[in-house]
Amino acid sequence: MGEVDPAFIQELEHRPELYPIESEGIPVIDLSPIIHKTIEDPSAIEGLVKEIGSACKEWGFFQVINHGVPLSLRQKLEEVSRMFFAQSLEDKRKVSRNETSATGYYDTEHTKNVRDWKEVFDFVAKEPTFLPVNSDEHDEQVTQWTNPSPQYPPNFSVIIQEYIEEVEKLAYKLLELIALSLGLEAKRFEEFFIKDQTSFIRLNHYPSCPYPHLALGVGRHKDPGALTILAQDEVEGLEVKHKADQKWIRVKPTQDAYIINVGDIIQVWSNDVYESVEHRVMVNSEKERFSIPFFFFPAHDSEIKPLEELINEQNLAKYRPYKWGKFLIHRRDTNFQKLNVENLQI
Ligand code: SIN
Ligand code: FE2
Repeated sequence: MGEVDPAFIQELEHRPELYPIESEGIPVIDLSPIIHKTIEDPSAIEGLVKEIGSACKEWGFFQVINHGVPLSLRQKLEEVSRMFFAQSLEDKRKVSRNETSATGYYDTEHTKNVRDWKEVFDFVAKEPTFLPVNSDEHDEQVTQWTNPSPQYPPNFSVIIQEYIEEVEKLAYKLLELIALSLGLEAKRFEEFFIKDQTSFIRLNHYPSCPYPHLALGVGRHKDPGALTILAQDEVEGLEVKHKADQKWIRVKPTQDAYIINVGDIIQVWSNDVYESVEHRVMVNSEKERFSIPFFFFPAHDSEIKPLEELINEQNLAKYRPYKWGKFLIHRRDTNFQKLNVENLQI
């Protein structure tokens, strides 16, 4: 690893600065008022809803504490993830992701044509009940969303499934708060997720990197889904573009907190009231880093468009409707380069 591999080198303007964290950065929000209750009286949680709304507007990102996901479960998953990545490359490649599956291992992801300094295991959350839908270009190709789980570590899929169940509860709560903050019914978004959601968990491993000033763990990007719920470990690395001054702000690791960001779908549903924000991941010359995002994605056949309640003659829809499943498959087929919601702007 001594030599600099040009595939990983960011263009000058996108190289990270190696400065220490100075500010608290994105807001930390305490979810204890709602996490074990259903929201029966929205007026009782006005303050919380306001906090969420301002964080979504100003940052597109926030951290949550007292979120209800048991720490022991998160720790178990973190341990399984470390054990999985500690195996030989040959063993990890036995469960590689391929063109017809969305679950599996890979280490060659590129973001904006530059290779990311990371290895990944993706795990699709739900067995779909839908028949796979083909993209127009690949009529013959059937996309299976699941693959056999790895045999090692033992209990890999049991632990992931247990974790998904818990993190999904948090995802629904957050969607309710976001809906309320937009002046909508708390359950407004639920219909998109109840059946055949396409959510998945990603285990990320960023090995230590001899040239952290040149490479990135993940290059700058926005998340395409509704919400991302990220567990980062104690090694800092995630950076968020602050809307107000367009500066990169490092997210301070907060023990047992989750980092939440709104994705492109919420940007479209809200007709740009909330925007999906660019972020990237720095690497470290001394320490490896692990993170576990949960990507909360709606049902395959959902039609995504600005919500009727949020558009009118003065505020016209800014996006054309699109089918989520087709959009997702197309993004994969084009290596995530060409299609994003900006292409759907009116
Ligand atoms: C990502 O945004 O894809 C990963 C975030 C992280 O590892 O902190
Ligand atoms: Fe991301």
